[in-house]
Amino acid sequence: MTSQLFTPLQIGNRTLPNRITVAPMCQYSAINGSMTDWHLMHLGTLAISGASMLVIEMTGVTPAAHITPYCVGLYSDDNEAAMKRVVDYVRSISPILLGVQLAHAGRKGSAHRPWQGHGPLQADEGAWQTQAPSAVPLAAGWPAPQAMSKSDMQQLTGAFVQAAKRAARVGLDFIEIHSTHGYLLSEFLSPLSNKRSDEYGGSLENRMRFPLEVFRAVREVFPADRHVGAKISGTDFVDGGFTPDEAVVYARALKAEGCAYVTVSSGGVVLDAKIPVGPGYQVPFAERVKKEVGITTGAVGLITDAQQAEAIITNGQADFISLARAMLFNPRWPQHAAVALGVEVPYPPQYERAAPKAWRPGRTLGKIS
Ligand SMILES: Cc1cc2nc3c(=O)[nH]c(=O)nc-3n(C[C@H](O)[C@H](O)[C@H](O)COP(=O)(O)O)c2cc1C
Repeated sequence: MTSQLFTPLQIGNRTLPNRITVAPMCQYSAINGSMTDWHLMHLGTLAISGASMLVIEMTGVTPAAHITPYCVGLYSDDNEAAMKRVVDYVRSISPILLGVQLAHAGRKGSAHRPWQGHGPLQADEGAWQTQAPSAVPLAAGWPAPQAMSKSDMQQLTGAFVQAAKRAARVGLDFIEIHSTHGYLLSEFLSPLSNKRSDEYGGSLENRMRFPLEVFRAVREVFPADRHVGAKISGTDFVDGGFTPDEAVVYARALKAEGCAYVTVSSGGVVLDAKIPVGPGYQVPFAERVKKEVGITTGAVGLITDAQQAEAIITNGQADFISLARAMLFNPRWPQHAAVALGVEVPYPPQYERAAPKAWRPGRTLGKIS
């Protein structure tokens, strides 16, 4: 049998050997924004999974850009050195394409870690003043963010630029701009959180302006032979929110700025959206973007099964899949999918004997164990 999931894919200048990628996943395990040994283990494990591309978790471009005090950042020399240590380590064990997701948490910042309740930090817990397009709180019980002035926005663009330069120095293959899940750039895109009356609010053209300025600034300073992509929303799943039609327009504008790929997610701008979560529930949004914009498109969201992933690629709904929870649950997911789809894939030499074909009856372990 031939598998489309295991065919190569060109993104930017790079050719991925297959279409299975690892989604960015916050670990809330950094110290002052600097990666720790946890990240060596976490990213090292995912890097030898057989996936072709790995996105380092949402990384704040300033200390105030974090969701929690334990998020990864890329704004200090210490952060840069800590990330370089992890990147060098991953490079030493895997050829996987490795990039970082740059972000600002907007009004969802200054929060507790998920396992400490997710809610906003209190003043005696180190809360900081959050910023957003407008002074509209995330939900009842959350503090009002400060509406960003144009000078705040310019400064923040500068911080994205500095982080992009650090990402280049660290040796990352690509940058992903985070513009979904209700963090700052998607707060600009969504009419639910963007109530501005200047040229950054109102029409879609205006709401896209700041995310596109950030993208452009990052694209300009990141080396031309490495790519910049974006994670976007397919919809807010709320009447009056960001829509699938708008996602198509935004993806088209990103493409015109030189965006190499988009991964299409959804939701997160408000906490009470009714999201019909089920297998592949965001795939139709990716499919629209891929078909109408013609940009390299990733599908994400409850893609858990090899045949399901294969069908997404075979049916032309997306160019690649992006896996989060399934990959944490089973970091050998790509190797298992290859077996399920009858495809032979390379293993790290140290693990070659783990391939089921090497444990058929009659095969011995050899003289040396
Ligand atoms: C532990 C965890 C951390 C996450 N952190 C991020 C993140 O840093 N950036 C991001 O864009 N999405 C993040 N997500 C969302 C995933 O990337 C993905 O979009 C979502 O989980 C749906 O995919 P899945 O069904 O394969 O898990 C996170 C998800 C999980 C489970």
